[in-house]
Amino acid sequence: MDKAQILVASNRGPVSFSIGDDGSVNSRRGGGGLVSGLSSVTAETDTLWVCAALSDADREAASAAPEGRLDKAGHDLGGALVRMLDIPAGTFANAYNSVANSTLWFVHHMLYDTPNKPAFDAGFHAEWEDYRAYNSAFAEALLTGSAEGAKVAVQDYHLALVPRMLRGRRPDLRIAHFSHTPWAPPEYFRMLPGRVGRELLEGMLGADHVGFLSTRWADAFLRCCETFLRAEVNWENRTVDYGGRVIQVGVHGLGADADGLRERASAEDVAQRRAALRELVGDRRLVLRVDRTELSKNIARGMAAFGELLRDRPEWRGRVTHLAFAYPSRGDVAEYRAYTESVRAAAEAVNAEFGTPDWTPVVLEVNDDYPRSLASYQIADVLLVNPIRDGMNLVAKEGPVLSENGVALVLSTEAGAADDLGSDALLVNPYDVSETAAALHEALAMDGDERRKRNDRLVEAAVALPPQRWFLDQLRALG
Ligand code: G6P
Repeated sequence: MDKAQILVASNRGPVSFSIGDDGSVNSRRGGGGLVSGLSSVTAETDTLWVCAALSDADREAASAAPEGRLDKAGHDLGGALVRMLDIPAGTFANAYNSVANSTLWFVHHMLYDTPNKPAFDAGFHAEWEDYRAYNSAFAEALLTGSAEGAKVAVQDYHLALVPRMLRGRRPDLRIAHFSHTPWAPPEYFRMLPGRVGRELLEGMLGADHVGFLSTRWADAFLRCCETFLRAEVNWENRTVDYGGRVIQVGVHGLGADADGLRERASAEDVAQRRAALRELVGDRRLVLRVDRTELSKNIARGMAAFGELLRDRPEWRGRVTHLAFAYPSRGDVAEYRAYTESVRAAAEAVNAEFGTPDWTPVVLEVNDDYPRSLASYQIADVLLVNPIRDGMNLVAKEGPVLSENGVALVLSTEAGAADDLGSDALLVNPYDVSETAAALHEALAMDGDERRKRNDRLVEAAVALPPQRWFLDQLRALG
């Protein structure tokens, strides 16, 4: 392949590899908006996706590929080739687990338990060096792989320093950075060491275009630029004047990939899961949630709200099941392991209080079963999406798309998705357990016609911004 004209960089790539029992290397296409979005780029354009090797199998597949570039291993990723970077294990752990997931993720989702954490000590500063090294490994791969004047779309908080690293060496490149998370307000962002905060902001401002999923996150970023860099912000045009350049800040909402979802949901494995779920739930009503085992998803407060519903409204006892599907996530981070245990405890507490020999109020499954999630979207009566903060949250959009009979959506005001779905969802303050319990009652009691009408409007809003368009918008913003 010649040097690429379009490049994407993200920590997690569009394919992952595993080694089968017989020693064979198998590949799996990843999910998410970016993978669907890339399919909109034509096969004629040379496209390169740079990501990190995340497992031994990834490393094996990457080292076997000529010039370190994998073909798409049989998966439809538009015209993209994939390059997986084999980053030294210690550098990767410090950059990904410690800086990206235990620090930046916590800041942007406002998750710190501040009496004890964070504490930016010598250990953190060493980890920060590795975050720089990890960013620089990505920058090198992008520099090597890009044609003159190429467009580079850098994704997320893992890679905040890359745009500036590229700009310094290749002013011909057109660079975008896109955040899939919220952005912290200055009052929270300021807890980062000053030098680190400035380096992150300046790193991103190396781009021509800095994108967010919601105006709320874009405005918080602009406020941070004003506060910590004394940069000049034009609020009307959402531009930042900094270092002699004008950087555009854009809002690109992301919707559900309706066609892709419907096609996947029509497969036999989904039908099998659907039948099994029907049997499990019987003729009870179904309150569903689907998340990663992620602190920001607020799973335990959701369960507490379900408990409060059963306590206050005895009429629902025995008549409703709360299914919680939680995908294991970031198990190398201690806080995530502890959180998963607290979610299990929250489920057990409700079951101990209200369970009977023939009714388990909360069924919590901590494992990875995508077809089962799709099947559960089809039959749920109520979908609970109550994150503390969330860049967008696609579960809130995908659930209504696959719903067969209309689902009532209980949605946190703090999810980016509330911007698009707010008028037909039942909005809740994610910290307010009693309000969430009341919304669950309202959702369960909602008349079927009303639910279907709302669902139709939710679907309309959910599919208005297909991933293909979202991705092309990022590229178009680069001119
Ligand atoms: C969020 C982030 C993504 C990340 C995903 C899964 O959506 O914005 O960048 O890939 O979570 O997290 P993981 O750490 O497993 O990649």
